Amino acid sequence: MTPNPTQTVREIAIQNPATVRVFESLGIDYCCGGKRPLEEACLRANLSLERVLTLLSSATKSESEPADRSWTAASVDELSTYIVDKHHQFIRAEAPRLRELARKVVSKHAQAHPELTSIEELFSAMADELFAHLMKEERILFPALRQLEAAASTGAPAPITCFDSVQAPIARMLADHDDAAELTTQIRKLAGGYQPPADACPSYRGLYHGLEQFERDLHRHVHLENNILFPRAIELEASLRGTAHDRV
Ligand SMILES: [Fe+2]
Ligand SMILES: [Fe+2]
Repeated sequence: MTPNPTQTVREIAIQNPATVRVFESLGIDYCCGGKRPLEEACLRANLSLERVLTLLSSATKSESEPADRSWTAASVDELSTYIVDKHHQFIRAEAPRLRELARKVVSKHAQAHPELTSIEELFSAMADELFAHLMKEERILFPALRQLEAAASTGAPAPITCFDSVQAPIARMLADHDDAAELTTQIRKLAGGYQPPADACPSYRGLYHGLEQFERDLHRHVHLENNILFPRAIELEASLRGTAHDRV
């Protein structure tokens, strides 16, 4: 289906996951800031709507990779397992590697490129926040969402959890996502859009490449949670509560 200019960016990304690449390449936020209509997002990014529509159409026509599968029909269990196996494990593997690499690059190049020190500090702060965030999702929120889904499929009452509604922990996760998005934006800006300077050594280049991949993976990860998993969980909870209410 061809995207239309009045659809929000997140709607287009949900319907056609292959469009995510186009949004990434154009610097259009499709996760935390994806609630804007496409025409408005293009205007803000100073991009021609016509050109963006052409790119989006060709992306949706080209063959999708397995990673671009649509998750709209997947179960909460399947999607949350995928998020943990793919995106949480990516953060656990990449964050320590990039931290170490940043330390090395700062020690050699911060004198000539002082922005590297800020990049290292911001990335390190973001990694600490993300590790705590992953733990909250894996130990508290995702198990609760799976229980909700299991209750909905068996007709059992809503599970008892340590919170009144999943909306409260979800709101905290959304706030964490916004914080991480803000940090990645600052890092990208300091790194000049990840264009290494002419004198950059391979480690310097490797750091910028790694940071850019990290940001890209984080966008996909947050998109799956903000736009698909969390709204589905809120709907499930509402349907369970509606059922319980009907029984009274
Ligand atoms: Fe996550
Ligand atoms: Fe998250």
